[in-house]
Amino acid sequence: MRSSRAWLEVTTVTEADTKLVPARLVENDWDRANSALTAKSLGELCYEQALLAKRQRRGRYCVVLSSGVRYEFSARVSIWGWLDIDYNSVERVTVGGRRRAVDAAQFFIDAGEDLELRPATLGNLLHETANTLAADMALLAARRGLDADTLAQLPDEQLQCLLDGHPKAIVNKGRIGWGAWEYARYGTESGAAVRPVWLAVKARLAVHSRSGDWNWQELLAQSLDDGESERLTATCLSLGISWGEYLPLPVHPWQWHRYVRHQYAAMIARGDIRLLGEFGDEYLPQVSLRTLSNLQRPSALHLKLPLTVLNTSCYRGIPGRYMECGPALSEWVQGLCEHDPQMASRGTGVMREVAGIHLPHPHHEQVMGTPYRYRELLGVTWRESARAKCAAGERSLLMASLLQCDEDGRSVVAALIDSSGLEARQWLQQLFEKVVIPLYHLLCRYGVGLVAHAQNLTLIVNDAVVKRVLLKDFQGDLRLAEGNFPERDSLPDSAGRALARLPATHLLHDLYTGHFVTVLRYLSAQLEQEIALPERDFYRLLAGVLRNYQEEARRQWPGMRERFSHFDLFRPDMERVCINRVRLQQGYDDTHERPVPVLGTPLQNPLWLVEQENVDHGLQ
Ligand SMILES: Nc1ncnc2c1ncn2[C@@H]1O[C@H](COP(=O)(O)OP(=O)(O)OP(=O)(O)O)[C@@H](O)[C@H]1O
Ligand SMILES: [Mg+2]
Repeated sequence: MRSSRAWLEVTTVTEADTKLVPARLVENDWDRANSALTAKSLGELCYEQALLAKRQRRGRYCVVLSSGVRYEFSARVSIWGWLDIDYNSVERVTVGGRRRAVDAAQFFIDAGEDLELRPATLGNLLHETANTLAADMALLAARRGLDADTLAQLPDEQLQCLLDGHPKAIVNKGRIGWGAWEYARYGTESGAAVRPVWLAVKARLAVHSRSGDWNWQELLAQSLDDGESERLTATCLSLGISWGEYLPLPVHPWQWHRYVRHQYAAMIARGDIRLLGEFGDEYLPQVSLRTLSNLQRPSALHLKLPLTVLNTSCYRGIPGRYMECGPALSEWVQGLCEHDPQMASRGTGVMREVAGIHLPHPHHEQVMGTPYRYRELLGVTWRESARAKCAAGERSLLMASLLQCDEDGRSVVAALIDSSGLEARQWLQQLFEKVVIPLYHLLCRYGVGLVAHAQNLTLIVNDAVVKRVLLKDFQGDLRLAEGNFPERDSLPDSAGRALARLPATHLLHDLYTGHFVTVLRYLSAQLEQEIALPERDFYRLLAGVLRNYQEEARRQWPGMRERFSHFDLFRPDMERVCINRVRLQQGYDDTHERPVPVLGTPLQNPLWLVEQENVDHGLQ
């Protein structure tokens, strides 16, 4: 009988065969997780121009490192110039010989000089690598036996617990601050239930706001059934707490023990913060880790709670800056969706942030340069659940789920296309219509950008076809274009003061980099490899949908012509935004502000490219 290693040898990808080797042939999960992370890191770091890949022959590439080590691999070059690497093909070549690359940490050590990593940065990167691999192993085990068709049918909340995570951030589940115990107890991939700790906090010391549709009792009732409500009321009575003076504040149990108890001790000692205890419903972490879905009642409001854990580039606390305007801003975006003909006709919706509380730290707030994480320790946002927004026959699906593959490399998106009965091109056209156009319209007509990565977008599907999109995450991920946009005059003042303003060319990247580079780049490559839909066709379809929209919008509002030239998605070159290089350059020291990305050399824009080809072929 052949050993598993012999299988690997006979299936190693050759020049003639650059198809992905079925993943089940990989020796074991540890090797698989490591080779996948190495391949992803090579691909992203070459894309970000931190490393340079040389072509050896057709479909085979090599990265030669200053350490003398070489990495060789098979890859397809995507239309973005990104190398879509077959993880099973990556080899580490040293003077000692050639071996499968199954040690991601070793890869970072090998590449340390080329990546200009300071030793402290490399050390912390290795910490994040080990944590990411632990989560990747758990995910491989959790998905075992679940094929893409099954994954595609799972409820949104469950599927989120099975997702690989950020496709672009190389060590995407680094979660510095957490160890194995926290991973098992609170990591998304563990699928374990979390029960918040409830506090009562003095209202006059908190920054808070809520939509007129909700009072604090109703917000509490979203987490507590009748029995638990009675128990909480009895506890409050015994402690002399009334909801006139105090506000109810849920806290993630880890945050309570690790940060709040000591860091807010002065407020606890004075009775400004009162511990009530664990109460009510259990929650399931979403893929963002800090936002939780109610397990008992999936239509109930989600809770977004601070977790002072460093994950994919920043600490995941909750800043106070947006707390005052959150509900009003949500209402305003919802109003645009309902009244703007372009968005209303596409059914665009919002998962509204209906209430929020932030408790500023009494001492850190006085230190202007204090690390930002200390100003984001305690707070909550209550947000609508996508489930509550589904009509009969509809269900919600985080857009990030589309990219998830099963053990055999088959994706959820391909499974959905298959079961929809639509031709892939029709299915995609529908996706672009319902997702890209509303985001682009929001940008051009109102000068409002939303960082449109696939974790901020929820798809509402019916019979496996995308019917509409729900937008979320407006605290920090929603920004305004500088300049005069009379269409957004109705923006609430509180939001106008809190939201960041950026030049149009920067804000365009909330869609271009946030969505095209960070979501569509992977989607188009996956579909080309999996169902032989050429990437050029993918972007031709997208360009077509965008051009149709532009034509229609120009007819409706002639002023849009100028807006489209400000927010130009069809420029030949676009800025190459590099999120991994920031982390590697900046290191892991505490900072006052969250890190901002750096730029590489310009990217050739696939949308320009496909239109250019149409011109060349006389199609336009
Ligand atoms: N496909 C994905 N794209 C982007 N981020 C992802 C993805 N999968 C997982 N993530 C994780 O989700 C988080 C996204 O950050 P972001 O600030 O948008 O969300 P959040 O504010 O934490 O949560 P929410 O969107 O619920 O408000 C990060 O922690 C990131 O690592
Ligand atoms: Mg988000």
